[in-house]
Parts: sequence; structure tokens; C-alpha cells
Amino acid sequence: MSNPKVMTVYGTRPEAIKVAPVIKALEADPRLESVVVSTGQHREMLDQVNGMFGINPHHDLNIMRPGQSLNGIVARAISGLDAIIEVERPDVVISQGDTSTAMAAAIAGFNRQIKIVHLEAGLRTGNLLSPFPEEANRKLIGQVSSLHLAPTEMSKANLTREAVPERDIVVTGNTVIDALLEAASWDTQFSNERLKTFAAEDRKMVLVTTHRRENLEDMANIGRAMRRISERFPEVFLVLPAHLNPAVRAAVFPEIEGRNNILITEPAPYDRFTKLMGRAYIVLTDSGGVQEEAPSLGKPVLVMRENTERPEAVEAGTVRLIGTGEDRIVDEVTELLTDAEAYERMANAVNPYGDGKASERAVAAIAELLGVGKRIEDFVPQKAEALVFSG
Ligand code: UD1
Ligand code: UDP
Repeated sequence: MSNPKVMTVYGTRPEAIKVAPVIKALEADPRLESVVVSTGQHREMLDQVNGMFGINPHHDLNIMRPGQSLNGIVARAISGLDAIIEVERPDVVISQGDTSTAMAAAIAGFNRQIKIVHLEAGLRTGNLLSPFPEEANRKLIGQVSSLHLAPTEMSKANLTREAVPERDIVVTGNTVIDALLEAASWDTQFSNERLKTFAAEDRKMVLVTTHRRENLEDMANIGRAMRRISERFPEVFLVLPAHLNPAVRAAVFPEIEGRNNILITEPAPYDRFTKLMGRAYIVLTDSGGVQEEAPSLGKPVLVMRENTERPEAVEAGTVRLIGTGEDRIVDEVTELLTDAEAYERMANAVNPYGDGKASERAVAAIAELLGVGKRIEDFVPQKAEALVFSG
């Protein structure tokens, strides 16, 4: 008899980073067969991660379109996945996180009566419209999942509050920390000449990322705040590895172009981006994954959102929610740049999101679901040492 087949579906950069360690663990497991499917919701940003982790999907739906709509993504993904499911006949579909690809994968699998495993389950803000559409996506995925791989005890508690049976939840830690630990072991050098020069100098760096759909209206504020910070602190340099969404670029670039202490780059490959986080003094972001990674590096993270589904590092004091108002962004960054005590209060290394063994726990729980193994002990956060990047 052949081994049970596990189909991992992903389509965007953060999903790719978070499923990469799971795919590696599945491929190394003699009890299971792994099939990897990319929807191609992202293209260049996804291929960058696939290349970095050496992942070659068995199928790629290549669905990305310029200015794609949510329904367009979901429609193309469900219809493409349905055809692949028919051919591959997997026993389990893994859906990661809360993107449109993740939601489409869960619905496509469920409609074919295949067990759904939700990786990174149970994150909630409690506001269905924020982040949009991610909060709704993760709730929908949860509704059709047989196994919920929650990264933390808090995400597990969100699920038990929604009456998910305790036995269907495993606390794994977040697989992004597995990926981050792997990146920390790579010998990475910056290739951008300006960045190399900046990074070699003894100047403070503010690393900025922004892309959230619900922030698009306010994104010019983020650009204006960056410009004001660059004017007030000419000795500080700001780096923006810019998301490829043209709407993000159109809002932010005009506000910051021409400043010689602001560097705009293309999306940074994961090895360089993680090294950039390691080099940063402050991280200013609206990203989910960056909120999980930067605290392990002991970097203060200012999150340009009104709420978060990742409250653990906020409670630990390393992450602060600051919204997208221009003045507030300038004030918060100014405080961290000028008040050493305020900086030290936030610059604590904390590891609430993982210990590098999340994919091992995930695969063990999937093996149990398929009747070929047993789950292992849940993740419990330990006291953290700041992760350091070499080079
Ligand atoms: C998507 C996810 C979001 C996730 C983010 C990670 C949904 C609804 N949104 O948002 O949850 O946080 O990815 O980055 O699933 N583009 C390219 N090349 C790429 C990637 C994007 O050109 O490699 C451009 C395309 O014009 C595309 C646009 O960016 O139409 C937006 O991409 P899309 O996946 O729709 O939304 P994101 O904002 O990236
Ligand atoms: N990232 C990257 N290069 C960049 C910006 C981010 O590799 O230029 C990584 C980052 O380390 C994190 C992930 O991409 O693991 C976050 O992706 P994004 O912010 O696009 O999505 P989100 O996590 O908000 O869904």
C-alpha cells in the first residue's frame, strides 16, 4: 500500500517562508508522501523564496494578475486546485495562514471531502474587517479544518473559545521561527552597493515594510512620516524593501524619492531581509511575519496597524501598535531614536512564537491524523537569547 499523501498549498511570500520547513520535514518523513502545489498568487516574491529554500512545486497554477481582485484570486485558485486534487487524490490538504490562497485551498479540499490541516491556526483580532480579508479567511479555514496547528497557547485559546475540540488542536510554535533559524545559519552578504556602505557604517537603521490592503488609503502617510524622520535625523538611514504591489509603490514612492538617507530596494531575498532585520535599530512594519521574527532578534517593532492577531510580543513589550497616522509614526520613531531608556525597555529578545521545532510537531500531528504516528509535546516558550546574524 502507498503512503498517505499530504498536499501542501501556498501562493504568497509569507506562506512560502512558513511552509518551506514543513515541506522539508514531510519530504524527509518515510511514512508520508508529499505533493507541493503553488497557486502563484505571488510570482517574483514567491519564486524568490522557492529558490532560497530549494523548493520546486509539483504544480504551479500561475494565477497572479496585475491589480488582481480577491474574488479573481479565489475563483482561479479553487478551480485550478480542484483539477489538481482530482489527479493527485491527497489524503490531507495543508492550508497555511490567512491569504486568499489559503482560504481557497481549504474550501477546494473540503468540497472534495479531504481532511484540511490549518497551519498557523487560531490567530484572531476579533474584528472581522481588520485585517481584511485575512481575519475572515482564517475563520473560514478553521470551520472546515480537521486539525488546527496553533502557534501559541493564545491562538489555541481562541480556538477553544470557538468550541474547537481540544484533541483537534496542537500547539506547534510558528514555523517562521524554523525558517528564521535556518536563515541565521547562512553566510549572507549584502549585494546592493549603497546598502553595503550604509550597513558598514556606524549609523542607526530603521527598516520599513508596508503592504496591508486595509492600509492602502493611509500609505502616503507612511511615506510622509519616513520623509520627516529622514529630515529630522540625517545621520539615521531608512531602508524600504518595497512590496511589488503597484498600489503600494504609487502611494509611498513619491513621498520619499530623492532623500539620500532613504534607500528603496526591490523585495529583499529572505537571506538578505533577515540579515537586514539583524542590522536594524528599529523595525517599522505592518507585516504579520516580521512581527513574529523581529522580536527573536531583540529589535523594537513598531506596528503600523490598529490591532494585531499576534498579541504575544505586544504583551512582552517588544512590539507596539502605533496605527498609520503620520504624526504618531514620527513621534514613536523619534522617541526610540532619542530616548535610550525607552529603547532599552523595548529591545528585549523574546521568543513567544517558536523554538525551531514547529515543523517537526506539525508533521508528527499530521502523521497521527493519518494513523501512521503520534503527536509530540506542545511548544512551550523558553527564555530567549537574541538571535545574531553572522557576516
Ligand atoms: C497578499 C495577501 C496578504 C499577505 C500578503 C503578503 C490576500 C488577499 N492577501 O497580499 O494576506 O499579507 O500577500 O505579501 O491573500 N505582485 C507582483 N509580484 C509579486 C507579488 C505581487 O507583481 O510577486 C503585485 C501584483 O500586481 C498583484 C499585487 O501585487 O496583483 C497584489 O498582490 P496580492 O497577492 O493580491 O495582494 P498582497 O497585498 O500581496
Ligand atoms: N520578507 C522578505 N523580504 C522582504 C520583506 C519581507 O523576505 O523584502 C519576509 C519576512 O522576513 C517575513 C515575510 O516576508 O517572513 C513577511 O511577508 P509579508 O510582510 O509580505 O506578509 P505578511 O507576513 O504580512 O502576511
